[in-house]
Amino acid sequence: MTARDEPQTPALTARGLGFRVGGAQILADVDLEVPAGHCLGVIGPNGAGKSTLLNLLSGILRPSAGTIELAGRDVTALGAVARARLGVGRTFQTSSLFPTLSVLENARLAAEARHGTVRGFWHRPRASDEATRVASEALAAVGLGPLAARPAGALSHGDKRKLELAILIASDARTLLLDEPMAGVNTENVEPLTDLIGGLARQGRTVVLIEHHMSVVVGLAETIAVLDSGRLLAHGTPDEVIANDEVQRAYLGQAL
Ligand SMILES: Nc1ncnc2c1ncn2[C@@H]1O[C@H](COP(=O)(O)OP(=O)(O)OP(=O)(O)O)[C@@H](O)[C@H]1O
Ligand SMILES: [Mg+2]
Repeated sequence: MTARDEPQTPALTARGLGFRVGGAQILADVDLEVPAGHCLGVIGPNGAGKSTLLNLLSGILRPSAGTIELAGRDVTALGAVARARLGVGRTFQTSSLFPTLSVLENARLAAEARHGTVRGFWHRPRASDEATRVASEALAAVGLGPLAARPAGALSHGDKRKLELAILIASDARTLLLDEPMAGVNTENVEPLTDLIGGLARQGRTVVLIEHHMSVVVGLAETIAVLDSGRLLAHGTPDEVIANDEVQRAYLGQAL
């Protein structure tokens, strides 16, 4: 095998991932691989375990079985903060912004965290100028530059979702875990947000995207994982997943 043919280490790998709480098996036997710069779409009915999977990948929850690797490094034992330092960033199903802080301040906090700046009595203007520059660039990348001075809480749903993406850009996250980024967003904003996420992947970021809009998932994802009752029903290209008999049975009567 030549160097060119050698398979690249995936950016993100889950092996035999399981999560139990009390007597309930929330997730079981989930195996996934996401190459760097690819988007994995995660679909499945309500309660299938999609957000739980993101919580396990981001380190918010500890798996009760299995392992998680980032670029070949086993991070199963690391918590969310340590994984964030390794470039994992996530958004939540409901907005997690600081509503009274300005749009710019929200993005700056992410940039400051990346640069390790601690704001205190001895304010360090150089580090904070750098954070402002990084934050402003991130806002420009998502088209929120003109709204930088607004309180984040005053933004529309669509703009809040854009700000969450700007925060991930400002924090220099390389692996983006996005939990329903289109939730509550007006139809006319779905396409710009889809383009934005596609652009982040094209720049080499790895994306795991939970999304109910099938057209968004099919348009963005190289591979799709279908979760059903905590199990991986199918994992493959959009065409493979749509053609999968089990998926067809589970989604019988629903447009895929
Ligand atoms: N910490 C927990 N303790 C008990 N049950 C939990 C916990 N976390 C998740 N669950 C349960 O696990 C199942 C999966 O939840 P999860 O939020 O991962 O589903 P989801 O696929 O994201 O659903 P939705 O599409 O509604 O967002 C649900 O039945 C939920 O009630
Ligand atoms: Mg969820």
